[in-house]
Amino acid sequence: MTTKKALRIGLIGCGFMGRTHSNGYLRVKNFFPELAYQPVLKAVCSRTESKARAFAEQWGYESVETDWKALIARDDIDAVDICTPNDKHAEIAIAAAAAGKMILCEKPLARTLRESADMVAAIEKAKVPNTVWYNYRRLPAVTLAKQIIDSGKLGRIFHYRANFLQDWTINANLPQGGEGLWRMDADVAGSGVLGDLLSHCIDTALWLNGSITTVSAVTETFVKERMHQLTGKVEKVNIDDACSFMCRFSNGSLGLFESTRYARGHKALYTFEINGEHASIRWDLHDLNRLEFFDNADASTLKGWRSIHVTDGDQPYMNKWWVPGLGIGYEHSFVHQVADFLKSLEDGSSCPPTFREAFETQKVCQAVQDSAATGTWKDTHAA
Ligand SMILES: NC(=O)c1ccc[n+]([C@@H]2O[C@H](COP(=O)([O-])OP(=O)(O)OC[C@H]3O[C@@H](n4cnc5c(N)ncnc54)[C@H](O)[C@@H]3O)[C@@H](O)[C@H]2O)c1
Repeated sequence: MTTKKALRIGLIGCGFMGRTHSNGYLRVKNFFPELAYQPVLKAVCSRTESKARAFAEQWGYESVETDWKALIARDDIDAVDICTPNDKHAEIAIAAAAAGKMILCEKPLARTLRESADMVAAIEKAKVPNTVWYNYRRLPAVTLAKQIIDSGKLGRIFHYRANFLQDWTINANLPQGGEGLWRMDADVAGSGVLGDLLSHCIDTALWLNGSITTVSAVTETFVKERMHQLTGKVEKVNIDDACSFMCRFSNGSLGLFESTRYARGHKALYTFEINGEHASIRWDLHDLNRLEFFDNADASTLKGWRSIHVTDGDQPYMNKWWVPGLGIGYEHSFVHQVADFLKSLEDGSSCPPTFREAFETQKVCQAVQDSAATGTWKDTHAA
C-alpha cells in the first residue's frame, strides 16, 4: 500500500454544501487513487453540538467544534472548507488565511465586492492554496465545451446565452431569513438570484468565453414584504427575485443572462448556448451528461444538432468512473473539484477558480447590481 499525504479537512457548515463536499472527500479516495494527497475528515463545525455530532457520525468526521474560530485555531487542520451562508465567508476566510490554512470557499465569494477584495488580499498575503466551489465547470460535458471552444472549432464567437431558472419562492407566504431561508435575506445573502444563481452562469461564461466588459441589467422583487423568521415581523424584502442582463464580452460577442425564482415549473434549470461562426454549443443541467453541438462543416445532408453523450473514457473525467454509456450526476462535480484541488497541491498551486478568479465574477455581479439600480450601462472594471 502506498503512503498518502494527508490533507486534514475542517468543514464549517453542515447543510446542503456540507454534504456535497463531504461526499466529494469520501469518494475521491476510491476514484482518484493515484493522487499523492488524500483528504482526512478531521473536524466539522456547526453551532449546534448535537447537529455537528450527528453529521460527524454520518460522514465520518473524527471530531466536532461549535465555534469556527476554535476549528481554525487547531494545529491538526490543514484546509478549511467554508460551507456557511454568504455572510460568514469573508470573516472565516480572512481568519483562516491569517492562520495559514488552505481554503476551499463556497460561492459566491462574498456578499459584496468590498468583502471579496478583502478576501483576495488576505489569501494572496498568506499565499495559501485556495479554490472557490463554482463546481459546474467540472461536469464532464461543461469541461468538454471548454475543450471544444479552446480548440477553435466555434471560430469567432457571436453570442453567449445563459439561464438559471427556479420557482420555489413564488408563494407570497413563504417567510424570509433564518435557517433554510437565509437566501431570502439580503443582509445574509448579499443579493438574491444574482449571487445565488447568476454567479454560477457568470463564472462559467468567463471561463468559456473570456471577460465581460460592460453590462445593462434589470432586477425585480415580485413579493415586496415577507415575514422574517428571526424577528417574527413582516419586513421589506431586499433581494432580487429575478435578474436579467445583457453584456459585451471582450472578444466582441454579446451576452444575455436571465435568472429567476419565479419560473413556474423550473426547479434548477441551468442552460447555456454559445453561437460561433462555424459551430454552436448548448448544455442543460437537467440533462447534464449531454453536450449538444452543431457543426456547419458537416455535409449538408447530415447537418443538424448532434447530442454528444459525454460518458466515454477519453472525455473529461470519465475514465475515472464506469464504462462508456453510463452517466454520472451533480455530485460528481464536487468529487472532481476535490480531485483537482488535491492534484494542484502536488506542485503547490491553487485550483481554479481561485479567489482571484472568483473576484472577477464578483466584479460582474457588482456592475449588474449598479446597472439595475441606476438604469444605465456599467463597466465591470469600474465596478
Ligand atoms: N456550489 C453550489 O452549487 C452551491 C449550491 C448551494 C449552495 N452553495 C453555497 O454554499 C453555501 C452554503 O449553502 P447551503 O445551501 O449549504 O446552505 P444551508 O443553509 O443548507 O447550510 C448552511 C449551514 O451553515 C450553518 N451555519 C451558519 N452559520 C454558521 C456558523 N457561524 N458556524 C457554523 N455553521 C454555520 C447553518 O446552520 C447550516 O447548517 C452558500 O454560500 C451558498 O451560496 C453553493
